[in-house]
Amino acid sequence: LEPAVLARSLLAWYDSHRRVLPWRAPAGRTADPYHVWLSEIMLQQTTVVTVGPYFEAFLKRWPTVADLAAADLDAVLHAWAGLGYYARARNLHKCAQAVAGSHGGHFPDTEEGLRQLPGIGAYTAAAVAAIAFDRRATVLDGNVERVMARLFAVEEPLPGSKEKLRVLADTITPDRRPGDYAQAVMDLGATVCVPRKPRCGQCPWHDGCAARAAGIAETLPRKTPK
Ligand code: ADE
Repeated sequence: LEPAVLARSLLAWYDSHRRVLPWRAPAGRTADPYHVWLSEIMLQQTTVVTVGPYFEAFLKRWPTVADLAAADLDAVLHAWAGLGYYARARNLHKCAQAVAGSHGGHFPDTEEGLRQLPGIGAYTAAAVAAIAFDRRATVLDGNVERVMARLFAVEEPLPGSKEKLRVLADTITPDRRPGDYAQAVMDLGATVCVPRKPRCGQCPWHDGCAARAAGIAETLPRKTPK
């Protein structure tokens, strides 16, 4: 199937299956960059269910990025306890200070600008650019890698196949509604195209999926043994 057809069917699926998440804006709106950034950093090590209460607690205590920047590092580390990887919390605080200090409290609105900030790598820059600013950016996390490996039946194992998967993901990222598209493809991986027993009968990409046609969806993505 053509990229435009794939994007359109996934967006239609998202419009009817969109998950309500604490950091997500109502349909048709972009979310606050601070909320998107905070949630994406938290989600890098923990599930949506665990992150929920932490996200709410952070926002209640530090409603803006300037509030977080002004907080004591120890208070931030304490509030982070239970999410793991304290380096992330230190970087979180450092990033808040950079945004509050050098950017007047506003997150940069491009992937390139976001990449300059402490603790923001390729994934987070793409996620914030797409979700908060509706920029066309290719978001590639474990969910998206799995979806792409299956859709295009990429049998080459990760991590070697990563760049190939990125190119495929980039090819089908649409110019219109890229923020919704980014969230849709992550939701698809989290709820339908799951690692074990994928729910192919519920998938908007059922008809275009090469791995499903070949009967190998559940075996992908392959991984090079460590
Ligand atoms: N997992 C990490 N970030 C996500 C997002 N923005 N939407 C859905 N699942 C996610």
